[in-house]
Amino acid sequence: VKIGVLVSGSGSNLQSIIDNIELGKINGKIEVVISNRENAYGLERARQHGIDAVFVHSKEFANIEQFDEAIIRELKRHNVELVILAGYLKILTSKFIEEYNNKIINIHPSLIPSFCGKGYYGIKVHEAAINYGVKISGATVHFVDENADTGPIILQESVNIEYSDSAEILQKKVLKIEHKILPQAVQYYCDGKIEIIDRKVKINMEE
Ligand code: GRF
Repeated sequence: VKIGVLVSGSGSNLQSIIDNIELGKINGKIEVVISNRENAYGLERARQHGIDAVFVHSKEFANIEQFDEAIIRELKRHNVELVILAGYLKILTSKFIEEYNNKIINIHPSLIPSFCGKGYYGIKVHEAAINYGVKISGATVHFVDENADTGPIILQESVNIEYSDSAEILQKKVLKIEHKILPQAVQYYCDGKIEIIDRKVKINMEE
């Protein structure tokens, strides 16, 4: 499967996918990494692994639709079949989602539907969990639909929160889980083991 990865930050989730592909665990190839941030370290990680790294500057476009069209053009140019949002901080336009319907996977650092949606990204997610006083949090891998963080859930895994945990400690705990379940979900997808029935995901392990 030809994969395109969108990043905005350090790209540690991208790195976990690169590592698992290089270990031969994922039946796919990253054709391009695209970022809306010129200095996103994720672009550097791509270059280090001989993967096309493309910065698309949103300021060059009149609106988000034209920006997304530029990203779609780049993805099409690389014949991408699966799009992965790995710490990508822009909302996708409906045109983008239609173009890659049920072919866009996102990782969110909480147990959706908790602490998700507009405004919940990066450390803010963990600050909200700590402030609320929940005893577990975790990460969710899901397909992207027209809203933020509401598409069919593929995998989730939880972490325990200690009373003394700070948001930074929780972020580290959750990031470790992200680096495990995102590649796992991509592996299932590339092996054709994922089905969506009535907006719910069925993973056919035996296939
Ligand atoms: C992290 O907060 C992660 O939970 C979320 O995006 C942020 C950056 O991740 N998915 P990465 O290191 O850029 O992959």
